[in-house]
This record gives sequence, C-alpha cells and structure tokens, in this order.
Amino acid sequence: MSEAPVMADRVEIADILEGLHTGKAVEVRGWVYRSRSSGGIAFVLVRDSSGVVQVTFDKDELGDRSFLEVEQAGIETSIIAKGGVVEEGRAPGGYEIKGNSMEVVGPSRNFPIGRDISDEFLLDVRHLWIRSQKMTSIFKVRSTVFGTIHDYFRSCGFYEVQPPIITPAGSEGGATLFEVDYFGKKLFLTQSWQLYAESMVMGLERIYTIAPSFRAEKSRTTRHLTEYWHAEMEMAWEGMETIIGHGEALISQVCQAVAERNARELESLGRDVDYIGGIEPPFPRITYEEALERLRSEGMELEWGKDIRTLEEKALAKSFDKPIIVTHYPKESQAFYKMTDPEDPDLVLAFDFIAPEIGGELIGGSEREADLETLKANLLRQGEDLEAYDWYLDTRRYGSVQHSGFGMGVDRLVQWICLLDHVRDTIPFPRTLTRHKP
Ligand code: 4AD
Ligand code: MG
Repeated sequence: MSEAPVMADRVEIADILEGLHTGKAVEVRGWVYRSRSSGGIAFVLVRDSSGVVQVTFDKDELGDRSFLEVEQAGIETSIIAKGGVVEEGRAPGGYEIKGNSMEVVGPSRNFPIGRDISDEFLLDVRHLWIRSQKMTSIFKVRSTVFGTIHDYFRSCGFYEVQPPIITPAGSEGGATLFEVDYFGKKLFLTQSWQLYAESMVMGLERIYTIAPSFRAEKSRTTRHLTEYWHAEMEMAWEGMETIIGHGEALISQVCQAVAERNARELESLGRDVDYIGGIEPPFPRITYEEALERLRSEGMELEWGKDIRTLEEKALAKSFDKPIIVTHYPKESQAFYKMTDPEDPDLVLAFDFIAPEIGGELIGGSEREADLETLKANLLRQGEDLEAYDWYLDTRRYGSVQHSGFGMGVDRLVQWICLLDHVRDTIPFPRTLTRHKP
C-alpha cells in the first residue's frame, strides 16, 4: 500500500496573514488579483473574501507546462493553489505561499476592470466591481451594521415585525411615492412603515423593523437612493426624550461594533478606527431655532419654517465630531403624524440626527400626534384624502396612548462610518434617479 499524500488544509488568507499557518502546507481557493512573472518566477496575488496573499511559483519546480498555465491565468481567474507558507518581508502582508501546484477552476480573460476607470463605467460593471477590495470592505462593515441594529433592539426587548411593502397610502408626502399597477388599481411602494407601526405598537408596545423603503427622489444628490434600507422603531408609552436616547445608544453601539470587528476594513478605507469606536452619547443637541442662528452667523440665511437642506446640513456638520441632534422643527414643514409641541403650537416634537463631517440626515423621528381631530386637520392641510387614512385613524379612536419612534437610513449610516462620497457605494446594486441596472 502506498502512503497517503500529505494533505494541505484549506485555509483562509486572512489567517495566513495573521501568521497562523507559517511553516505549514496549505490550500487556498480564490481569484487572481494580479500577477507578474520574471526570471522564471511567477508572483500571483490571490484574493479570497478575507484578504490577499502572494503565491510564488518557480518554473524549474513546476515544469514548463504548468508554469505557462500560471503565467496565462488572467485577472479574476478562479484557482486552487497549494504550497508552503513562509514569512517574507518583501511580500504584501509579510507572508507568502511557495506554490507547488495551481489548478484553474474557472478561466477569466480580459477582465474589463483595469486601472483609471471612470465611476460611470464601474457602475455599468457593478456586478464585477462588487468583488473589489473597496466594495467588499464596505459590505463587511454594512453586515456588522445590520447585525448590530438587530442586536440592539432585541437586547432592549423590541419585537421585530414585517410591515407591507405595497401600500394604499403614503406617510411622508405624495411627491416621492412610486406607483404600482396593482391589478388595475393604483397603489404605492412604501416610504416608511409609519402607519403600520402606529397600529402595531398598540399590541406589541416595542417594535422595530429593517426593511427597504422607496422614494421617487428626483434630485441628484450624493445621499439619496430611490430604494434604501430603513431601520425603524416605535414605542408605546414614551415621548421624544426616550426615543432620542435610543437613537444615541443605537448609533454608538453600531460604531463600537464596527470598530471592534472591522478595524481592518476601516483602515483600508482610510478611516480612523479610534474615532469610530469613540462615538458615544451624549450627542450635541440644538433646536431648529438655534440651528438657524448658527447658520446665520455663518452667513447662511434660512427662512423660518423651511427645511434644513443639504447645504445647510453640511455647514452644521462641519463644527461637530459626533452626530448632531436637531429638535423642535416648525410644524408647517413636517409630516401630519408628528405631535404638536404643547408649549408652542408652531412646533412639533420632532428631531433629526445629522451626520458629522459630511452632513446628511441619519435619523428622523418624533412623538406622534395623539389627538384625533388635530391629526385629521393636519391630513387635510397637507391635501390628503381622509378616507384613505380612515383605518389608521382607528389607532386614535380605540385606546390610543402616547407613542413615538424614528427611522434611520442604514445606507447613510454606513456612508458616514466609511466616509464615502456617495451613498450608492454602500449598497451592492444601487437604485438612483439614473441607475436601475444591473
Ligand atoms: O425622515 P424620514 O422621511 O422619516 C420617516 O420616514 C419616518 N416615518 C420614520 C419614522 O419615524 N419611523 O426618513 C427617515 C430616514 C432619514 O433620516 C434618512 O436617513 C433616510 O430615512 N432616508 C433616506 N436614505 C437614503 N435615500 C433616501 N432617498 C432617503 N430618504 C430618507
Ligand atoms: Mg426626515
């Protein structure tokens, strides 16, 4: 009987780079990231989902035919390589595999993405660009962000619920509703779980969801998607202060989890890990009125009642290093369900969290209007048809209680954590005004 061949264990590249396999025979499965050959040695950078390692092949050891195959493997060829791990100061990451075999699994010739490619082209070949280190680093951070949102709410005793996506009425104003032809009837894609949350919270008291929301945003900005991921929460028996506290604790927990689990990704994106890990409550707070004063002192005149726009948000964001909470917005610019401030009928008990550094609203929330007649008047003032909301008004007819909640744009949170120019790079296949494929 012949002796069994020495088996190489299949390992992750990240563990090689951590020094866990030095001196051992290993197998890696991955894709050719880059390669070059000189003086009878081929240097192949191989990537898997965890990292990139150099594998070197010696022509004399491999034989001419196999060596030619290595040399001819184009970028993104999928391969299985085996060899021994050594420490090598000259190799990227400080380790390399002295390769003794390479098997091509799926060939790849003339991979379309090279150097100096335009952003537009990268969006055309998004299905290939999502393999890049930049994109996979962002998606790893995104995965931590989603997981931590679930952890946060579940650990605080919230129930996860699933609101409908196809809905008969909007809650955030008609201008951004996408229509759906529903067997000949006009329905809409959800903008928010708002009306459903206010119904369900009377049964479950503490609820949250992470779901897509849709906004037919006609403006081209760096922070609007037409399909985005919305983390929403609603609580019975609580007012604005409690909800703000959850917003602060949630963002802080997410930032700490990312700093702990994704330090490598943050570094590769050029982000300071300690800064992200140090985002802790309390966050700075100003009222809408104070925001106007601050802006005025910087020469930006905003008419009272008008929404704070991108430009003004950026100006506010500049002077803070934590998310900024703006409270007490003018009632006239706000959605119908927000609670009128008992101390000032021109204001609502509503707040936004604005991202530091880049601006952009991360969270929007409020206490909800308790009074049935005020709610009806608000709906009518905003040109809504009361009949479409009659079922929702039942929430106020049968045992209503104080309740409050917020919605967080998860993509925007990832944009700020990774400090990206455009929110579209936080999501694998972005949907914007001009992009809907692949
Ligand atoms: O401020 P908004 O419109 O609030 C609501 O929809 C409430 N009903 C939420 C609630 O109280 N349950 O949206 C909430 C958040 C914004 O702060 C922003 O982060 C994000 O959703 N958002 C978008 N993100 C990406 N692309 C868009 N087009 C977005 N529109 C809103
Ligand atoms: Mg808002």
